[in-house]
Amino acid sequence: MRIRRAAIAVATLALAVVVGVPTAADGAKTRKRHAVVYTNPKASIAARVSDLLNRMTLQEKVGQMDQIVLGKLRGPNNPGDGDCNGSNSDQLQTNCLQKVLIDDRTGSILSGGTDNPPDNTGAGWANQYNAIQHYAIDHSRLHIPVIYGVDAVHGFGHPFEATLFPQSIGMGATWDTSLAQAAGAATRQQLLATGGNWDFAPVQDIARDNRWGRYYETWSEAGVLAGALGAANIKGLQGGGFDSPQIAATVKHFAGYSQSINGHDRVEEQLPIRYLQDTLLPSYADGIDAGAATVMVNSGSINGFPATASHFLLTELLRNRLGFKGVVISDYGDVPALQSAYHIAPDLTGAVAKAVNAGVDMAMEPDNPSGWNQALLQAVNRGMVSKARIDEAVGRILTLKFKLGLFDHPFVDPSKANAAVTGSKDVARQAADESMTLLRNQNNTLPLSPSSKVVVTGPNADSLIGQLGGWSVSWQGIFGGGQACCAGPPDQIPPANSVLKGMQQASSSVTFAPDQASAVAAAPGADAVVAVVGEKAYAEALGDNPSPALPPDQQNLIQALQATGKPVIVVVLAGRPLGLGPAKSADALLMGYEPGTEGGNAVADVLYGKFNPSGKLPVSWPTDASQQLSDFDATGPSALGDQPKFFDQLPGTNGGHGSGYNPLYPIGFGLSYTTFKVSGLSATPSTSRKGSVTASFTVANTGGRDGTDIVPVYVHQPTENAGIVVPDRRMVGFARMDVPAGGQKNVQVTFPVSTLALTPGDIDGTEPPQVFPGSYQVQVEDMSDGFAIR
Ligand code: BGC
Repeated sequence: MRIRRAAIAVATLALAVVVGVPTAADGAKTRKRHAVVYTNPKASIAARVSDLLNRMTLQEKVGQMDQIVLGKLRGPNNPGDGDCNGSNSDQLQTNCLQKVLIDDRTGSILSGGTDNPPDNTGAGWANQYNAIQHYAIDHSRLHIPVIYGVDAVHGFGHPFEATLFPQSIGMGATWDTSLAQAAGAATRQQLLATGGNWDFAPVQDIARDNRWGRYYETWSEAGVLAGALGAANIKGLQGGGFDSPQIAATVKHFAGYSQSINGHDRVEEQLPIRYLQDTLLPSYADGIDAGAATVMVNSGSINGFPATASHFLLTELLRNRLGFKGVVISDYGDVPALQSAYHIAPDLTGAVAKAVNAGVDMAMEPDNPSGWNQALLQAVNRGMVSKARIDEAVGRILTLKFKLGLFDHPFVDPSKANAAVTGSKDVARQAADESMTLLRNQNNTLPLSPSSKVVVTGPNADSLIGQLGGWSVSWQGIFGGGQACCAGPPDQIPPANSVLKGMQQASSSVTFAPDQASAVAAAPGADAVVAVVGEKAYAEALGDNPSPALPPDQQNLIQALQATGKPVIVVVLAGRPLGLGPAKSADALLMGYEPGTEGGNAVADVLYGKFNPSGKLPVSWPTDASQQLSDFDATGPSALGDQPKFFDQLPGTNGGHGSGYNPLYPIGFGLSYTTFKVSGLSATPSTSRKGSVTASFTVANTGGRDGTDIVPVYVHQPTENAGIVVPDRRMVGFARMDVPAGGQKNVQVTFPVSTLALTPGDIDGTEPPQVFPGSYQVQVEDMSDGFAIR
């Protein structure tokens, strides 16, 4: 775990270096610059990169490969604190800018989770970015701009007034690729206006273990869904393909970062090559195929070897097999960690050489630019890293800077920044609405009538902390998620409706009960009680939880409310499925994930029926630990091996005892206020190994309301044609369609059979995955239809 994202200073001091938008260069200066190829916007990017590389010294090249955290550009909080380690300060300091950007020739700056400008508005971000960029361009010998990295993982989470989308796990529940693209495009607008031209998103790791503190940053446990949403999001975020991004997206964390052996962040991963290739790589590959400009490396070690030093991973798989051509960046501090944590190098020089030779183009260093320079120069001088490899890495970095237009239009307009970060509320509302997943609705408890008298209670009812989650204003969420390390300023609270406020806007019959006693006392006079429970904000290892469940006080609250005899509606705002205890038998149960700044309104939309819920679980919801112990029989929920739980686990030999797929709610589950019937499945009868298959079926809305249905499509491989153990079913695609009440739609889902490729061979199989010919079945709900692969 890294406690390294400093608090935001509360005081609003002026930036020490404030520079406005520069005016266009005068004509004479422009003509002179254009005599030089790399400054000529009309020359090709390849020619500009080559010209610039030819002019650069080795020192300048090495500096380009380093990314340094914003704090190193800031001065001390108090005079005498030392210099240029001002992560607690909010002032850019000229001597620090000079040291990092000019003396150390650093190529990139990052703002980690809480590295915000003093006022933390859009305009504050734009001014801070312009000041840094101006310093780099004006004072460096060759006027090379920096590329600025941020974690805009659910919208641009830093500026406190920003519109925030549901965290990825909630976006996963929408199964809506066009929405993931729209959210990406909205994030692009936020970033283009504020200067963060490199976004460390999306996370293409898949959700496999809900104990992991970063589970909510993933889209799904199914590679097909994660790949589709990530690819769409990248297209929206970049606003252009690999050759013309406006913002650089990052496929992270390559590869297998979600697979730690025990649910803890950054703990070793043990990954059979078969599992890595067949199950984990496809969602990263989809992001790369969508044109992602950059890839970030997994912090962990895989099979006893750090990913950051792995030539197999970063060159063989990533470049040679997946065809990635962009920039590879290490994760935070992971290059020095090869020496300090993994001890696979005797010193920093050895660590840097291993990472660069494996395929790392830029190190998120993040706070020792001189050390980086010395180490990499030494590695080159000793022949440990070739000059050709340096040119290759720097060439990729400069190419990206040129593609982003940083040499030609390096600055942003602060007067447009506030409006840009607070825009796109309609997209955020739609996303939050579509993410809402109704898991239980006994006797049509929902929707409520606006005239129903409703008591609202619970820790997440009138708080934005859990509604927004981590990476929101500060690394650990607003107020730092209650962590002493990470507290943000109390006056930087996003202007958003909580669930209570959203419900009060939808109905005048809503009262708030701040605690259990007042809720129980108010219940007899109400028609229903809504308990908004779940988790607080957290990020990375601070969110690891050995047994994720509603805490005892929340379970007690629900039990006490149930004892009043009134209908109890439980709303869970959390980053992952939780053990539910008494909430399992609530009259209604709504999973809201961490739905963002429009989340309070979206919960109200669903509770009052303004929006017909359509969200479907993107993950499996495991049974409670307590339930596992008491239900050990072959037919009930499994007692063993229930967590981690995912839909494509392989069959075992113990029948229902831990080897079946029997979660509390399966992936794809979610109720609507209407009903659907899927019928008439047929599949393309036969195809080649390079071909594709189309599954056709009809979805009828058999209820009384217009609605949206989401239908996953699976493939079962019934014969022994692969000679290896295969999951009972693999998800190959999905369809999402609006169907009016009483209407029906014909739906077609086409998937390439390459989706079915598997690694052949014994336990030690490592060959590239291949498609096995033979007979297969497409499965949709309880229907199946056979097809052959020739
Ligand atoms: C996280 C990355 C993130 C980086 C920069 C790391 O700790 O693992 O996902 O992009 O910090 O904030």
